[in-house]
Amino acid sequence: MLDFTYSNITKIVFGRGAEEHAGKEAAAWGKKVLLHYGGGHIVRTGLKDRVTASLQEAGLEIVELGGVQPNPRLSLVRQGIALAREERVDLILAVGGGSVIDSAKSIAIGVPYEGDVWDFYAGKAKARETLPVGVVLTIPAAGSESSTSAVVTNEDGWRKVGYGSVLMRPKFALMNPELTYTLPAYQTACGVADMFAHILERYFTREDHVGLGDHLCEGAMRSIIQEAPQAIAEPENYGARANIMWAGTVAHNGLLGVGRSEDWASHAIEHELSAMYDLAHGAGLAIVFPAWMKYVYRQDPERFVQFAVRVFGVEQNFHHPEQTILEGIRRLEDFFRRIGLPTTLSDANIPADRLEDMAEMATAGDTKRLGSFLPLGQSDVLGIYRLCQG
Ligand code: NZQ
Ligand code: ZN
Repeated sequence: MLDFTYSNITKIVFGRGAEEHAGKEAAAWGKKVLLHYGGGHIVRTGLKDRVTASLQEAGLEIVELGGVQPNPRLSLVRQGIALAREERVDLILAVGGGSVIDSAKSIAIGVPYEGDVWDFYAGKAKARETLPVGVVLTIPAAGSESSTSAVVTNEDGWRKVGYGSVLMRPKFALMNPELTYTLPAYQTACGVADMFAHILERYFTREDHVGLGDHLCEGAMRSIIQEAPQAIAEPENYGARANIMWAGTVAHNGLLGVGRSEDWASHAIEHELSAMYDLAHGAGLAIVFPAWMKYVYRQDPERFVQFAVRVFGVEQNFHHPEQTILEGIRRLEDFFRRIGLPTTLSDANIPADRLEDMAEMATAGDTKRLGSFLPLGQSDVLGIYRLCQG
C-alpha cells in the first residue's frame, strides 16, 4: 500500500428535503450567490423555486446563470467568470449534475486567476485560490459533488479535458434522492456506468496489499449491480435511488483509491468519444471499459480473476483462468446492456472512421502514456478503440 493523505471537506446533507438546507449552508460562505444550472429541468420540476426561496429566506442575494450543456462548454465558463467578477459574488451554487458542477468549479477557480481559465486545463497553470462551491445534486453519476476535479469541453477543437486540485472539492453537497425520480431511464443508466467506472479505475491497480480497498470497491460494485435495475424499473423507489445516489459519491470522493495507484486510461479514451460525438460520458464508458479490460488483462490475470469471482460471482476455472476473466468481462457487458446502455460503437451509431484521429488526440500524438495498470501509447489506444467495435 502506498502512503497517502486523505482529507475530504465536503459536508454532505443527505435525504428527503435536503435542498431546503441551501440557504443555511450557502450563508456560511457569503452573502451573494451565483445560482448556476443547466438546460432547465430544475425550472420544470419546481426545484429552482424551492432553492431560490431557501436562499432568499437566509437573506442571500442571487445572481443567475443557466444554460450549462451536458459536456460543459468553456465559453459559458468564461461568461460565468465575467459575471461573477462584475457582480462580486461570494460563492457559486451548482444545481444539477456533473456538467453544472464542473462548470461551477471552473468558474470558481477562474474568478481569482488573472489569466485565461483554460490555462489550468492546458497544464499551463495551477489553481491557488477558488471561490467556494456548493451543490444541490440532481443526478448520481460523475461524483463531482465531492470530487477534486472538473472536466470542460473547449469548443475550439472540441477538446474535452479534466483538471484537478484539492481546492476544487465543493464545500457542501445537498443530496435528496427524490430529486432523481424525474431522471429518464437512459440518464440513470449512464450515471450508473459512470460511477461503476470510477470504481474500476481504482480497482485495477498494480499496487500490492490493498485488500481493504479491494473489498470496499467490490462491495460498492455489488451494491450498484443490485440496486441499479430496481432504480430503473421503479423510478420512485426511494431505497434504490438513495443507494445509487450515495454510491455515486462514494465511488469518486477518493476514499476507494487511497493507498493505490489509479488508472484512468479508460476515462481519457472515453473523453475523446464524448467530445467528438457528444455522447453521454457514461454511455461512452460502457463501450470503452470492457474493451480496455480485454486489452490489458494479461498484465495481471489474478486481479481480473478476483474481479470476476468476487464482483460477478463467476465460478473460478482453475485450469483456464482466462475463461474466468472473459466471463467476468462478459457479465459486465451484460449488466450494462440490461440497464439499456450501448456496449459497442455501432450500438451507439458511432462510425469507425475517426478511430485513428481519436487515438492520436488522446495520446497527444503518442507523446503521452495513458493509465498506470498498463501504460498505453497511441497504437494501444487504437487497439482499444478497435475492440470497441465489438
Ligand atoms: O441540463 P439539465 O436540465 O439539468 O438536464 C440534465 C442533462 O440534460 C439532466 N438531468 C440532471 N438531473 C436531472 C435531469 N433530468 C431530469 N431529472 C433530473 N433529476 O441530465 C442530463 C445530463 O446531466 P449531466 O450533468 O451532463 O450529467 P452527469 O452528472 O453525468 O455529468 C456528466 C459530466 O461530468 C463529467 C463528464 O465528463 C461529463 O462532462 N465528469 C466529471 C467528473 C468530476 N468532475 O469529478 C468525473 C467524471 O468522470 C466525469 O468525467
Ligand atoms: Zn466518469
